[in-house]
Amino acid sequence: MQQSFQDAPVVLFLEPGEKHKSLASVERLLRQMAQAGADRGSLLIAFGGGIVGDVGGFLAAIYMRGIPYIQVPTTFLAQVDSSVGGKTGVNLPEGKNLVGSFNHPLAVFADISVLGTLPDRELRAGLMESVKAGIIRDRTLVRFMEEHVHEVLGRDPRALEKVIAASIRMKAAVVNEDERESGLRMILNLGHTVGHAIEQATHYKALLHGEAVGWGMVAALYLARKRGTISAHQFERLESLIHLYGPLPPLKLRAAKLVAATGADKKNVGGVRRFVLPLGIGDAGVVEDVTAAELEAAVGYMLAQAGEKHS
Ligand SMILES: NC(=O)c1ccc[n+]([C@@H]2O[C@H](COP(=O)([O-])OP(=O)(O)OC[C@H]3O[C@@H](n4cnc5c(N)ncnc54)[C@H](O)[C@@H]3O)[C@@H](O)[C@H]2O)c1
Ligand SMILES: [Zn+2]
Repeated sequence: MQQSFQDAPVVLFLEPGEKHKSLASVERLLRQMAQAGADRGSLLIAFGGGIVGDVGGFLAAIYMRGIPYIQVPTTFLAQVDSSVGGKTGVNLPEGKNLVGSFNHPLAVFADISVLGTLPDRELRAGLMESVKAGIIRDRTLVRFMEEHVHEVLGRDPRALEKVIAASIRMKAAVVNEDERESGLRMILNLGHTVGHAIEQATHYKALLHGEAVGWGMVAALYLARKRGTISAHQFERLESLIHLYGPLPPLKLRAAKLVAATGADKKNVGGVRRFVLPLGIGDAGVVEDVTAAELEAAVGYMLAQAGEKHS
């Protein structure tokens, strides 16, 4: 790779783990960039998972008020989700992704051959974002994922390519319509209200993001079924799909605690509890009138599943 650059690229490293997605890392990396002589003509290449992509994109946004960058996502989640949409940033001790900027890369190069070394659990967790993509916008993807579980989990290149391409297409289309998350983009948060609450309650340690979103989607599906926006048959089909790409780790949490944790969600503007609900298969909408009791029932159902079948 080095031969294709006029000067040998300077390689900077970021330790793995959410705790390194921090302002301290940003300061260290900015200083290393300055020491290496990076200027406005430099190109930053974020090569790694979602954490590297988020930090790299943020560095590119703020170094000398902005330099160009390219994303080379190396996890399934980063390929289908975090590298698309231009959200970059880091965590604060007070919460995840509280500092950042919208900053689109010049290009995203997603090569499935790098996924060969990815642990199975990371792959399955990332696939939850593809399940989400199908539920909210793409019923063909839902069907494909139902019918090709073995190929996808067996990393058959054609199957992976199909799922990745469909997921990216979905996200790119939604983001194009609503870049700054004022409306439509919120549907990308299906499963994330409860998912974020689970991550927070388990201190971001017990579950991977996709796994928490998997459980969060179970709660959202239950709520949708109770409201009648999906049928009992659709509920069973979509819940089964989530578990086909599991197993999701067991949860030992209290419903009330999780419901309280959803109050801190970024999607809540002015105290309104916004919630993404599936409306059939391949469609979703945002509702603002979900009551605490409804949410508690949905979370209760999810926790019953998460405690019994999966422990
Ligand atoms: N910007 C967005 O729109 C957006 C969307 C979703 C998630 N995110 C962020 O993405 C982050 C999660 O990303 P992630 O799931 O990619 O996790 P990650 O970046 O932590 O990577 C997971 C692990 O896999 C390792 N890894 C990376 N590529 C590998 C490969 N090819 N083979 C083997 N191991 C590899 C990493 O070193 C790390 O240990 C979170 O911080 C989340 O907030 C951002
Ligand atoms: Zn997500």
